[in-house]
Amino acid sequence: MTPISAPFPMSRPRRLRQSQWIRDLVSERQLSASDLIWPIFICAGEGERQPVASMPGVERLSVDLAVEAAKEAVDLGIACIALFPYTDASDKTPGAEEAWNPDNLVNRATRAIKAAVPGLGVMLDVALDPYNSDGHDGIVRDGVIINDETLMALENQALGHAEAGADILGPSDMMDGRIGVIRRALETHDFPDTMILSYAAKYASAYYGPFRDAVGASGALKGDKKTYQMDPANSDEAIREVAIDLSEGADMVMVKPGMPYLDICARVKSEFGVPTYAYQVSGEYAMLAGAIEQGWLDGDKVVLEAMMSFKRAGCDGVLTYFAPRIAQMIF
Ligand code: PBG
Repeated sequence: MTPISAPFPMSRPRRLRQSQWIRDLVSERQLSASDLIWPIFICAGEGERQPVASMPGVERLSVDLAVEAAKEAVDLGIACIALFPYTDASDKTPGAEEAWNPDNLVNRATRAIKAAVPGLGVMLDVALDPYNSDGHDGIVRDGVIINDETLMALENQALGHAEAGADILGPSDMMDGRIGVIRRALETHDFPDTMILSYAAKYASAYYGPFRDAVGASGALKGDKKTYQMDPANSDEAIREVAIDLSEGADMVMVKPGMPYLDICARVKSEFGVPTYAYQVSGEYAMLAGAIEQGWLDGDKVVLEAMMSFKRAGCDGVLTYFAPRIAQMIF
């Protein structure tokens, strides 16, 4: 597109900004609650709420309270929720077997939520880190994350989540070949409609710190995730990762983190034209929520502006801990 404009004063861009109605009329995009996926942390117990220290305003919820949150999400017009477990250290093993326990926290929560509010989308992560005593997304042996053995564990986990009723599986582990393995398992076990939103371009990021507190993985994690998550220096590699995941059967793709990687969101959307999501991760939330709490930033305005950056970059939707706040604002 070649922009054509008359020289000043025939052309005055401010003419189209002079009042709210004309700004609305020429506005290029709009936010909607149906663009949001709300990540919720699940803990054991009943009537239990546990604040996450590094994420002001975010609480872990027991299954019964997560059902209430799900009802709130529906009332607010939020499309989908994503559930993450805070697993007790005693349930973590080197084989991460709790990941495919049919009665683990997220499987129980999914059943309860699907029974109460069937119209709300439920997404579950496929990765071993909340269940692994090493804190890694894959199986670790002698300090090495073993790709192909991890795939078998991920297959078990994915089938358990599909069985529990998850609508969307979000493989966030970054093992090679996982999308194909999960997709084939879903087809073989009669879950043809289960969707895969692949964490396709997931970077080895320091912005995940507060999340690891929230799911209780920070203490457990030995080393870093650089042998499977991507180098923040790379952009072409993100395109290759997305291409692989799509060719293996992903329905939708995600870029993660969000705001520091908007260039990747824009490239992925323009090169593939598939449903593309950004995850505004825990560290991005913590930066904004911390400054808002101090009164340094105007919360409502800054959160909406951040959302608009994702829409402008071409994202079809955003996973964000601000989802209920945003939905309330734009309702
Ligand atoms: C686990 C997973 C992580 C996040 C989502 N799924 C953490 C990680 O990879 O270490 C991060 C989400 C956030 O920071 O909000 N595989």
